[in-house]
Amino acid sequence: MRLQRQELKDLMKNKMMQAGLREDHAEQTAEILTWSHERGYASHGAVRVEYYSERIYKGGITRDPHVTWKQTGPCSGILDGDNGIGYVMATEGMKKAIAMAKENGVAVVGMANISHSGSIGYYAEMAAKEDMVAITFCQSDPMAVPYGGTEPYYGTNPISFAAPTADDRTVVFDMATTVQAWGKILDKRSQGASIPADWAVDEKGLPVTDPHLVNALVPIAGAKGYGLMMMVDVFSGVLLGVPFGKHVSSMYHDLSEGRKLGQMHIVIDPDRFVGREEFKKRMSQVCDELGSMPAAEGYGKVYYPGERAVMRRDKAYAEGGIEVVDELVEYLKGDAIHFDRYDHKNRFAD
Ligand code: NAI
Repeated sequence: MRLQRQELKDLMKNKMMQAGLREDHAEQTAEILTWSHERGYASHGAVRVEYYSERIYKGGITRDPHVTWKQTGPCSGILDGDNGIGYVMATEGMKKAIAMAKENGVAVVGMANISHSGSIGYYAEMAAKEDMVAITFCQSDPMAVPYGGTEPYYGTNPISFAAPTADDRTVVFDMATTVQAWGKILDKRSQGASIPADWAVDEKGLPVTDPHLVNALVPIAGAKGYGLMMMVDVFSGVLLGVPFGKHVSSMYHDLSEGRKLGQMHIVIDPDRFVGREEFKKRMSQVCDELGSMPAAEGYGKVYYPGERAVMRRDKAYAEGGIEVVDELVEYLKGDAIHFDRYDHKNRFAD
């Protein structure tokens, strides 16, 4: 079923408020879920609301957190989120980072003890919309083997970079450091299909093509992706004093407990380098040059990161709204807060 932006956002907001979340927190969380869903990241859109609602209801996301901010230097600070909803904590952290970077040129802001914050490109884009350049990365629950390993140790640990241009384009590079998300393995299981050998490994750490034998996901690009995945955890976990590596809490382990996740934003003011206006002009030139390059056979066009996401959003609205599966809309419109489906769920089960 196709929904308009405001309609989808309101439904998600209302459901999370029904679960007990503060209205302003529900509003901002629904805004980011909509941002993600309309860009075609359905895995980080409306489908997440039931899980969050169950966690809010059971107390594993603090409904009215006692958030503390500690400025640790002219360019650094740490926000302790008291396990409040990650979307709001990461937004607040980015607001602090942008203000600090505008004042002092650069900002490094950590968020400790937060819950899942969804599509992290949203936070990097916030900085780019203020003419800053940004990087953000965060932890997620362990489900990927280190290169050459046999046991899940790191999460899908995403990284996002964003940069403004002199026109209405914003470059937003936003990716998980695993080849595939777990959801893609589940899709293949349900279709009775096999998976490519470079997606996942079995209990011995060897490549598998049978999705039922998957024990862990694998990092992108072998040892190089493993290094990236590890450094995401170093910056957003080890450095911030929250649990790291395999000690990071599971998304589904106990929904009454806070997740204690970490996230890190780094923001740079181009005025301390080439200058804001010059930087944006140069970024527009980069996008123009990439976009006008002849594409290789079968590719159609060279896109800058984030371009296709915005195209998917515009296409959805041109075609009458954002596609949301019917059962999901039924749930969002219904009375049930959740169906007790996620607590203690085995992540690797169907
Ligand atoms: P993806 O594989 O769809 O895209 C990764 C990046 O590649 C994007 O920046 C995209 O713009 C770019 N890209 C893709 N195709 C392109 C093309 N043809 N030309 C140029 N650029 C192209 O994203 P992925 O890795 O599946 O992540 C999806 C979302 O999941 C992200 O928003 C990420 O932040 C989120 N995520 C969140 C986690 C969390 O714990 N909070 C964990 C893992 C992912």
